[in-house]
Amino acid sequence: MKLLGIESSCDETAAAVVTDDGRVLSDAVHSQVSVHAEHGGVVPELASRDHLRNAGPVIRSALERAAVSLDAIDAIAVTNRPGLVGALLVGVQVAKGLAWAAGKPLLGVDHLVGHLLSIFLVRGDPLVPHPVPAFPFVALLASGGHTALYRVDAPSAERIFELGATRDDAAGEAFDKVGKLLGLGYPGGPRIDALAREGDPSAIRLAAPMARRGSLEFSFSGLKTQAALWIAREGPLEGQRLADFCASFQATVTSTLAAKLVHAAESLGVPRVVLGGGVAANRELRQRVRDLAATRGLDAFLPDAASCTDNAAMIAYAGAMRAREIVTDRWDLVATSSTVLPRATRKGRGAR
Ligand code: KG4
Ligand code: ZN
Repeated sequence: MKLLGIESSCDETAAAVVTDDGRVLSDAVHSQVSVHAEHGGVVPELASRDHLRNAGPVIRSALERAAVSLDAIDAIAVTNRPGLVGALLVGVQVAKGLAWAAGKPLLGVDHLVGHLLSIFLVRGDPLVPHPVPAFPFVALLASGGHTALYRVDAPSAERIFELGATRDDAAGEAFDKVGKLLGLGYPGGPRIDALAREGDPSAIRLAAPMARRGSLEFSFSGLKTQAALWIAREGPLEGQRLADFCASFQATVTSTLAAKLVHAAESLGVPRVVLGGGVAANRELRQRVRDLAATRGLDAFLPDAASCTDNAAMIAYAGAMRAREIVTDRWDLVATSSTVLPRATRKGRGAR
């Protein structure tokens, strides 16, 4: 089975052709970073308009690169939640039009389920072994919009359970906000990752967020405030001082993420951990998860960087898993800002 995936939930217009065993035949991503960079973050109205401009060409390019016609596609999967509703509407409406015209099944996919299953995508030479986790596994999804731990019992939204999430900002959001304070532009995550390589992570002391042992919840807004106060006091940072700050901030965030992921798996007695979401592309987070998992006797599974950041291949694959449950979604499929996965964590302050 070959699926066409379409993704437009935030600031990437993406389309991909993927087989139901996860082989990525094409993966086209048009990033809107240059549209939003001057505003320091994603402007929803501009995102919708840019998706409208690029959805057609990106889908055409995904089909061409996979050398398949729309006729040869078995189903069309599209992100219909969660995300910016105006942005989602573009992808959903294009998917409906194509499915209607070509007489193909239409499958609405939750973006978070896509991230959580992105480890199953196989890129490059299909003969090179690609280890994938057995079920259940414990996954950390850390992106610009979401940060949470899940127990994944099967590749189905009904069998994925939140163990704990952020009380406030997502990890990627913290990277981006601190990047903005440092004058690094948008998005800050990859820039901080690059600068941190040259820095000393012990140069600046920042308190670890939600460090209480046992808690599977996260909080990044306090760390952001600490960073803002420190930057305001020390003045504009450059050179080694900037690299030291990036290294210290990144070490604080990634040590918390890795420790909570491993703690969650150990407390559930699940011997395998998986990463997903844009922050899973972070070099230090990947190294920490690998190292910590190894010392605790857990298997760690890390998707390729291209599978971590927003892409439509993960949506096509999650669509293939959904096709095992339903034949097609109906023509009244809607776009919504909330995830289908039940939340276990209350936002804001209060007993933890
Ligand atoms: O998954 P994603 O592409 O979009 C959402 O669903 O949010 O994640 C984007 C986020 C941004 O906040 C970006 O700064 C962060 O992922 N990110 C990184 C890295 N690459 C992307 N954060 C830290 N280190 C990276 N290498
Ligand atoms: Zn995402």
